Amino acid sequence: MSSKIRILTGITTTGTPHLGNYVGAIRPALAAACKPDTQAFFFLADYHALIKCEDPERIARSRLEIAATWLAAGLDPQHVTFYRQSDIPEITELTWLLTCVTAKGLMNRAHAYKAAVDQNLATGEDADAGISMGLYSYPVLMAADILLFNAHRVPVGRDQVQHIEMARDIAARFNHLFGAGRGHFDLPAAVVDEHMATLPGLDGRKMSKSYNNTIPLFAGGEKKLRETIARIVTDSRAPGEAKDAEGSNLYAIYRAFATAAEAEAFRVALHDGLSWGEAKQRLFERVNGELMPLRERYEALMARPAEIEQILHQGAVKARALAIPFLSQLRAAVGLRPLQQVGVSKTGKKSKKGSKQARFVTFRERDGHFHFRFLAADGEELLLSVPFERPQEAGDWVRVLGKAGGASAFIWGKNSLQVVPTEHVGGHAYELLYSSERVAMGGPWTEAKERDVAARKLVREIELLWKKLDADESASG
Ligand code: TRP
Repeated sequence: MSSKIRILTGITTTGTPHLGNYVGAIRPALAAACKPDTQAFFFLADYHALIKCEDPERIARSRLEIAATWLAAGLDPQHVTFYRQSDIPEITELTWLLTCVTAKGLMNRAHAYKAAVDQNLATGEDADAGISMGLYSYPVLMAADILLFNAHRVPVGRDQVQHIEMARDIAARFNHLFGAGRGHFDLPAAVVDEHMATLPGLDGRKMSKSYNNTIPLFAGGEKKLRETIARIVTDSRAPGEAKDAEGSNLYAIYRAFATAAEAEAFRVALHDGLSWGEAKQRLFERVNGELMPLRERYEALMARPAEIEQILHQGAVKARALAIPFLSQLRAAVGLRPLQQVGVSKTGKKSKKGSKQARFVTFRERDGHFHFRFLAADGEELLLSVPFERPQEAGDWVRVLGKAGGASAFIWGKNSLQVVPTEHVGGHAYELLYSSERVAMGGPWTEAKERDVAARKLVREIELLWKKLDADESASG
């Protein structure tokens, strides 16, 4: 993969976004995604939503609203890989591979599970009453979300830090068991912004759906925003009386939408006796000023759900271009390999560790098409073929490319085998052409340099394979 810093975060799709989500998560995440040398993955964690919510209508609605919100807030799907968790079957597949190496004792220690048990015990219930396996295994699903894309940094709220630590533990264990000297997974780190505003809600406690004290971001439009702001709890100081901005949740919300100078002017005005009614009007204008253009985009998007569906679909294609080859590497690592690769040589002896050679493998995709891949001796995927209707076609190519033997079959270059650079899903890739017919592709990589290195490796590994086959041939014949 690329040399950029990969940041990744998931948004559980159970609710309707409020101002606290915008200030605390959406706005900072979009700002972070814009930084150079950053590759961002943002996804709708709709499998996570199923853990907490058994109301299908609410899940469906929330997925739409949250997707529209992030797009309206400025998420650029060309730049960010934006997808739905449930569109990536590799996430659930990886979840199982990870589940099998995760200590049950580790899951016993998860806060969310422990809190549920404690509550049961406090109310005299059975310890596990109402606790699903989904809730119990939740950290493994989250680890799969993160590790499938080898994220380096995971921006989350403080309550999620333990889950990132668990993802590290699980990744380290998998690397240890199956890494064979090279780790499959990078170890992710939680990023908790210490200065990140946690916005107070109407009653001054943290703005949260569970406290029922939220200010909706777009829902209900301008009218609802004005009405809700009018319900912010203040003290009972009369107009003209000096008011303490620092102690006021109204001021805290204002600050999240203003420059330092504007916030200072607001503080002084409150001190000089600005009425709470007038203060609420100013707050409304400030917040509405920032949200108005976003709200317009939001409403336009909500009116065209098919367009959002399309965007998410393209995001899933982009994500799966990384996930599919990576998962196949992981499957092979745990032993789920084509039967031809059982590690028993023709003579019946077990092949020596470390003497792996490059190989072609054929497989069937979920959509029913057949493909082949070419894997380097170290397991790196260097080619993925075009789709074939029939398995024989993939097999023929493997025979031609892998078994025909070196000098007898090909010369690199024009009209025979060619490796030519190309672009694919926004990255640098190469194609393998046989007499100008496109047979397979490698990549994409983020950097052209990485692609060139891989292309050279491809040529070298194929030539080595041919030489080896030639040598075996002459030894046995
Ligand atoms: N569990 C996270 C939350 O409740 C959401 C989430 C799911 C997530 N998968 C993730 C966050 C992966 C970061 C990375 O907030």
